[in-house]
Formats: sequence, structure tokens, C-alpha cells
Amino acid sequence: MAILVTGGGGFIGANFVLDWLSHSDEPVINLDALTYAGNLENLAALRGDTRHVFVKGDICDAALVGRLFAEYRPRAVVHFAAESHVDRSIHGPGAFMRTNVEGTFSLLEQARAFWGTLPAAVRAQFRFHHVSTDEVYGSLGPTDAAFTEEHPYQPNSPYSASKAASDHLVRAWHHTYGLPVLTTNCSNNYGPYHFPEKLIPLMIVNALAGEPLPIYGDGMNVRDWLYVRDHCSGIRTVLERGRVGETYNIGGWNEIPNRDIVQTVCSLLDELRPSPAGPYGHLITHVTDRPGHDRRYAIDARKIERELGWRPTETFPSGIRKTVRWYLDNPDWVAHVQSGAYREWVDRQYSAASDPT
Ligand code: NAD
Ligand code: DAU
Repeated sequence: MAILVTGGGGFIGANFVLDWLSHSDEPVINLDALTYAGNLENLAALRGDTRHVFVKGDICDAALVGRLFAEYRPRAVVHFAAESHVDRSIHGPGAFMRTNVEGTFSLLEQARAFWGTLPAAVRAQFRFHHVSTDEVYGSLGPTDAAFTEEHPYQPNSPYSASKAASDHLVRAWHHTYGLPVLTTNCSNNYGPYHFPEKLIPLMIVNALAGEPLPIYGDGMNVRDWLYVRDHCSGIRTVLERGRVGETYNIGGWNEIPNRDIVQTVCSLLDELRPSPAGPYGHLITHVTDRPGHDRRYAIDARKIERELGWRPTETFPSGIRKTVRWYLDNPDWVAHVQSGAYREWVDRQYSAASDPT
């Protein structure tokens, strides 16, 4: 028995692989193209561990994926591989269409071909678990009810549109071909190994470097925040006990405006690594808003709790403290991910001349 994980070199995928192998000896075949967001250092704890087989490759490479199915005969696929950053999707949507839409299509086809060869009893146990996002549901007003699984799809960015398309493909492969799929739509994750292009790790690494902390617009956009290891346990739960063909929302019950997130990071750094230059809050700057910036996301995670008994274990105060502590304890990881390509992205995104139109 083994599972095939795609994108297991990225932020959530790597946390998932580490979490999986801390709960089980079932091997993981980890297929990752190692784009700018993929990093084998995230998996350094598994060096020499024969339960982890890393394969550098593209989910769009049908021949390679077909070979992996034939060789390892996984009982499940957990599909994380994606382009994941909204701002990058605004500057260059093509990569998002290729990996998130075409890549998911190609993976579904290879999974379907393999699944079709299995004996009936094994076929019934096979699962294709698609990891998706709350962004497919669009944006909420301040008093709107949180997203349930029945909320209409209203994606607003190239990223969320590409994820919505991939969700639709997964749904269709179940309804048309009977492929046993599961989909989870999760809110904003945070925690160790988070690439510092995203809000929380960007604020931590910029603050420590004495650089500005750029808040888009008025800073009152609201996200629901979930500690990444809670997302991993949610995925394990759905993979184990979720009803085939269903979608489950996963969230942290932590709706917080961006301004408060940044203040919290600054306060924790003031406590744990005070700066001789004074409180980190002085570095906060308000910059031009993200085009099409969704105002509010909120997840109603009652279905997964009611049906499968899953709830997050981490509160935001406990999770963010662990996260800030992790970045303070791992300066080498931070230094290594801040490559030339990373600096180019930051300069392009946050320069005064930055204009995605
Ligand atoms: P990430 O950008 O950190 O990692 C993505 C990984 O996919 C990287 O390791 C990258 O190398 C790999 N990859 C990209 N294109 C590939 C391709 N063509 N073939 C093989 N591998 C490829 O992303 P993440 O934040 O870890 O997100 C993982 C998944 O979870 C994504 O599907 C994302 O949409 C979803 N998600 C993320 C969040 C979040 O807050 N980060 C929340 C909900 C859902
Ligand atoms: O909701 C789930 C989604 O969360 C995932 O599907 C995405 O893959 C993931 O990247 C994340 O998307 P967001 O756009 O919400 O995350 P990001 O960290 O980019 O931004 C969080 C909020 O912070 C958002 O309102 C934009 C704001 N922001 C972000 C950056 C990078 C800033 O104000 N300043 C910044 O520099």
C-alpha cells in the first residue's frame, strides 16, 4: 500500500508528508516539479527514510504519471500540486491554467486509466483527493453567512478561477466515470515552511530584516486562518472516512482582518526578538491594493465536524506563536529560500512602478 502525493515539496504538501509519516508507515510517493515554491529542504527530516520516495516531475507529464501508477500502485492520490499565489496569477495567469487546470485534467486521466485496471474490491477503495481552496466561492460582505459547501462558485482571480475549474473537473470525473473522488476547500493556512511571498511569512521575514511591512489597501480584508497541521489532519480524516463524491470545507473558525494579523506578528516579534530600532509596528506601510482583492472569506466547517468529527486543535494565538518561533529558529531555511528569483519577485511586486495591467 502507498499513496501518491503531488506537490509534496511545497508548503502544505511537505507538512502533509511529514504529518502522514508521523502517523503511519504507509509509503508516500511524492511527485513535485520543484518550481520556485517547491523545496526539498522542507523534507530534510525524511532524508534516508525509505517510506518517502521523491520523484522530481511535472503532473502534466502523462507518461511519467502513468509509470508511477503502474510501478507503485497507490491506493490513493492526494493532489496538492498547483500554482498557489494570487498576486503571481495576476501578473502571469498562464502557469496557473497549465498546472491547475491542464495538470489536474492530466492527473485525473492517468488516475482513471489506472483505477479502471483494478479488481472490483480494490477499485471501490481507491480515492482521488483534490485539495482546493475557499477562494472558489468568491468574496463575502461583512454580514454574509460563511461559505458552506453549497455556496455558488464565484471565483474572482485567475488563481481562484483555475482552482474552480479544477474542482469542476474532479466533480465531472466522478459523475461521468465514477472515479471515487473527494474534494476539500480550505481557508488560509499558516505555519512552518510557508514561502515568504504570502502575508504571514512575508511580514515575519521583512520585519526581521528591518524592511517595510506592506499592507494592501486599508488592511480590513478578512481571511479565515488555519494552522497547517490542522489542515493536514483534516485531509487525513476526509481521506479515511469522507463520503465519495462529497466536498468538505475545512476552516479554522478564525476570521481576522489583515491589519490585525500584521499587528499580532509585530507584537510577537517585539516579545521574542526585540529590535534595537524600536517596535516592529513602525515598519507597517499601506500600499496599493491588489486588483480585484476579495474582501472577506469565511468558512462554515460544520459539515466535516458533524459527519467526520474533525475540528482544528490550534487556536490562532497558539498557532501564530509556534509559527513566529519556527521562523526565528530556522534562519538558514529563510536565507536559502530568499534566492535571486525571490528578490526579483519582491522587487517587482512591491516597487512603486508595479502595475499588473
Ligand atoms: P505551494 O505553492 O507552496 O506549493 C505548490 C507545490 O506544487 C510546489 O512544491 C511546486 O513545486 C509544486 N508544483 C507546481 N506546479 C507543479 C507541476 N506542474 N507539477 C508538479 N508539481 C508542481 O502551495 P501550497 O500553499 O502548499 O498549496 C498546496 C495546495 O493547497 C494548492 O492546490 C492550493 O491551491 C491549496 N490551498 C492552499 C492554501 C494556502 O493557504 N496555502 C489554502 C487552501 C488550499
Ligand atoms: O484562502 C485560501 C488561499 O489563501 C489559498 O487558496 C491561496 O493559495 C493562498 O495563497 C491564500 O491566498 P490569499 O491571497 O488570501 O493569501 P496571501 O497571503 O497572498 O494574502 C492574504 C491577505 O493579505 C490578502 O487579503 C492579501 C493581503 N496581503 C498579502 C500580501 C502578500 C497584503 O496585505 N500584503 C501582502 O504583501
